[in-house]
Parts: sequence; structure tokens; C-alpha cells
Amino acid sequence: MTQQHIKRIAICTGGGDAPGLNAVIRSVVIAAANRGWECYGIRDGFNGILFPERYEDGVFRLTRKHVRNIGHLGGTMLGSTNKGNPLHFPIHMPDGSTREIDRSDEILEYFGKKEVDALVSVGGDGSLTIANALHKKGLKVVGVPKTIDNDLDKTMTTFGFDTAVAFATECIDRLHSTADSHQRVMVVEVMGRYAGWIALHSGIAGNAHAILMPEIPFDLDTVVNVIRGRDNDGRMYSVVVVAEGAIPKDGHLEVVEAAEIGHAERLGGIGDRIAKALQERTGKDTRVVVLGHLLRGGSPTAFDRLASMRFGAAAVRALDAGMSGVMVSLAFPNVDYIALEEVAGRMKAVPMDSDTVQTARDLGICLGD
Ligand code: F6P
Repeated sequence: MTQQHIKRIAICTGGGDAPGLNAVIRSVVIAAANRGWECYGIRDGFNGILFPERYEDGVFRLTRKHVRNIGHLGGTMLGSTNKGNPLHFPIHMPDGSTREIDRSDEILEYFGKKEVDALVSVGGDGSLTIANALHKKGLKVVGVPKTIDNDLDKTMTTFGFDTAVAFATECIDRLHSTADSHQRVMVVEVMGRYAGWIALHSGIAGNAHAILMPEIPFDLDTVVNVIRGRDNDGRMYSVVVVAEGAIPKDGHLEVVEAAEIGHAERLGGIGDRIAKALQERTGKDTRVVVLGHLLRGGSPTAFDRLASMRFGAAAVRALDAGMSGVMVSLAFPNVDYIALEEVAGRMKAVPMDSDTVQTARDLGICLGD
């Protein structure tokens, strides 16, 4: 039964984009319209509220018309940002230093002033932590788990992950043939932050010979031995998939940009380091391919599209049922609701006892240990 207290909701997308965001937006807008609710889109995370001077329409009415035929498109029609977390907002001081302030009250004030009753916040760990803080301050909030990294806890999967894995797998497939033709080593660096989900899943699906991920500090000697062993067997090429967050046993995380107030550190460079070391150690021609943001673009797979639509509709159902402070989660075969408190700030690494890790080992794929 529709709750009388909901008349107007808003939706925002924050953090790195992921395929499926537009499908969530479409689903939320239509499910809300079917209940007679108005839906508003906030631009670029919360920037549409925090920087009204930058926009003609930082917060704008979203109708069925706006979301027609967008479900299959990558990106987000609302825009996104992974800078300027309202809880830790950077302020540049006249002396050149930066300090942080909490601007979350401005968001609550906006909702109060415009009589917007609830928020659907679509995002990863950062956005869901913000959502949880807003919920604790009294805003009705439901979160939707997004990230290609699949590193959010308490959901079987996030949307965006399947598309990233599908694309990475296709790329690895293509690299097999060129590596084989040239008898080379191909190193493929994939995103994933501090978790190895993308590397592990695409590496197994793409028949990689070695997969290096943050959960297993790697010893390059083991990879060198795999490459030499394959050469001795007459299999003169090798494909190594490495997660951007993979760490050598006696080394460190590769960071291209340090963390600043309001935004996280940027990872990258491990692929290059490994490729150079492998070339030196094996004497084989070695190339590196960094898939990077390619993994975030493009159309969502059917799985991600469906997950996104289910998540969006489930978020509206949650608000309709009077829930707040929850995240929609996939608990196959159904969707479920988990307290944001249980999700915020918790990273889901690949469990070492998972059958997927076991599968890699059973297939003889080197995991660097
Ligand atoms: O969280 C998604 C993600 O693509 C990570 O895999 C990656 O480390 C990060 O975002 C990259 O962020 P940016 O878009 O700031 O380069």
C-alpha cells in the first residue's frame, strides 16, 4: 500500500560510473511515477545541491519522458563525481592549505525546503557511507549498490561488475591470439581497487595463465616459473592478468595520485612494473595493456540491466513500505534489504576459500603465491 507521506523523491548517482546506472534511474522514475510520486534528479552526486550557482538546473524534475530508452546506455544521465564528499568537503584556505568541513546539513535543508521526502542514493562505498550519515540525521534514504569493483559487502553482486568482467574477458581473449602469434607475454591490468574480483573472474573466464590480485601478495618468481614452464612445453606465450591493487610480497601498492580531502587515492602502474620485470627475467618480449576506464563504459550486460532495474524498483518499494537506512542487495534469487550501517565502510574482498579461487587453482592458474 502506498505510504501517504511520500509525494516526492530524489535520486543521485555518486562515485565512479558503472554500466547500469541509467537503468536504475529509469526503474526508479517509472516505479515512482506509477505510485503518483514526483521524482527529481540531482546532478553530479550532490553537486547539484551544493553548487547551485554552477547549474541552471542542479536538481530537476525527472519524468517518464526523460528516461525513455536510456536503460541500455552506459554512464549516468545525472552525472557523477568522486570528489567533494559532503561529509569531508575540501575548503581551500588563503594560506594555500586545505581543510575539510561537513556540508551534509545543507543537503537536509534542501530536502526540507523543497519538500522532497526521500532519497535514492546509487553508489559504492563512499556514496553509501554518505547515505548512511544522511539517514542518521533524519533523511529517508535507500541505497543501491553500484560499482564495477564488486567490493561492496552484503550483496551477492553490485551492478556494473558483470559488464566489466564481460568486457575484460573479451579483451583477454583477443590478447591470447596476438600473444600467441608473437610468442609474447601479455600483461593485462584491470581495475578493482583493493579487491581482485574483476581480475579473478575475467582471468579465469579468459583462460589467463596467471592472475595477481590484492588478496594474495604475489611472488614474481612463481609467475616467471609459469612462463618458463610453458615455454619448455612449447606453449610459447603467456597471459598475465593483474589487478590494479595487486601487491608484490616484498613491495608496495602502486599509486598514481595520493588521496586528498574528499577523494580517494588513484591506483595504477603495477601492470607496467610487472611487464618490465617479466621481460627482464624471462627474456621474452612483453607488452602491457591497461584496460582502465574502458571497463566502466559501454552498455550494461543483460544481467546488469536486469539487476539495475530490480534494484531501482526494489528501492522504490522500500520507500513505499516506510523503510529507510537500508541498501537493496542481491540475495540470489531475490533482492533483500540490508541496513546501511552494516555496509558502509566495509569492503568485500575475494574470500580465499571461495570455489572461484579453488577453480583457478584446480585449473592450474598461477595466483602468484
Ligand atoms: O571504483 C571504480 C573505479 O573504477 C576503480 O576500479 C578505480 O580504482 C577507480 O574507480 C578509478 O577512479 P577514477 O575514475 O577517479 O580514475
